[in-house]
Amino acid sequence: MLVIANWKMHKTVVEAVATARQIRSLVRRVPVTVVIAPSFTALERIGRVLRGGPVQLAAQDVHWESWGAFTGAVSPLQLRDVGCQWAIIGHSERRRLFGESDAVAGLKVGAALAHRLRPILCVGETLEERVGGDTLRVVERQLERGLVAATAATAGRMVVAYEPVWAIGTGETAEPAQIQEAHGLIRRWLDGRFGAATSRRIPILYGGSVSPENIQRLGAVAELNGVLVGGAALAAEPLAEIVRVLAGAPANAKPKRKTAVRRTAKSNRSH
Ligand code: PGA
Repeated sequence: MLVIANWKMHKTVVEAVATARQIRSLVRRVPVTVVIAPSFTALERIGRVLRGGPVQLAAQDVHWESWGAFTGAVSPLQLRDVGCQWAIIGHSERRRLFGESDAVAGLKVGAALAHRLRPILCVGETLEERVGGDTLRVVERQLERGLVAATAATAGRMVVAYEPVWAIGTGETAEPAQIQEAHGLIRRWLDGRFGAATSRRIPILYGGSVSPENIQRLGAVAELNGVLVGGAALAAEPLAEIVRVLAGAPANAKPKRKTAVRRTAKSNRSH
């Protein structure tokens, strides 16, 4: 199981470091990989806070070139330099508010893979597309173009996040049956493109108004390998609660290492 905390454009560096420390102390020894995606300004400091521990670091975006005249952009090399292991690519806010196309997402995924950053490619339909019966076509197109540069040799480092646009930041979560259908489609597409063995190594996450209140229901969805969390990940405790629930979720119930998670009072102390 994989949990990505997407902080979007929130938190000063001091606030970001304090929350990262709390998260680090709350989510020890869980069979869940926890990844924090702060703003670019906090990456370097949080990279130092997390170094050597199990909680990992993601950027919310990445440019496709290594260096050059690209004002405002940050390259995969620069992200690696500050300790990033992951990069979110093609988030619907990037697509909708900054005009990013499927082709741009494809370039970014290629650059991330080439620089050993693990890409988290976001796909998902708008409400209009869902109502118009276009969900599957849209998601397939986003996968086709977003993963154009991935090969059977590199695709095992990918993550795909299914994030229906109408569920992001709205408090409206997709129904388990809708998630299962979309995840099934994505899995079949990955099987067809990279072969079942490689496909199995690619986690498929759900994102869109995930919270401690609905994680139990979501965690029961077959084919769910984790979640991408926005609003509920801004504070450490709700995020840790989501992690705890997923640590015990049926999809994750195979015998594994201990799932002990330190609980509240003591664990709020930062280290
Ligand atoms: P949300 O955001 O959890 O606030 O809906 C999810 C996302 O944008 O990835």
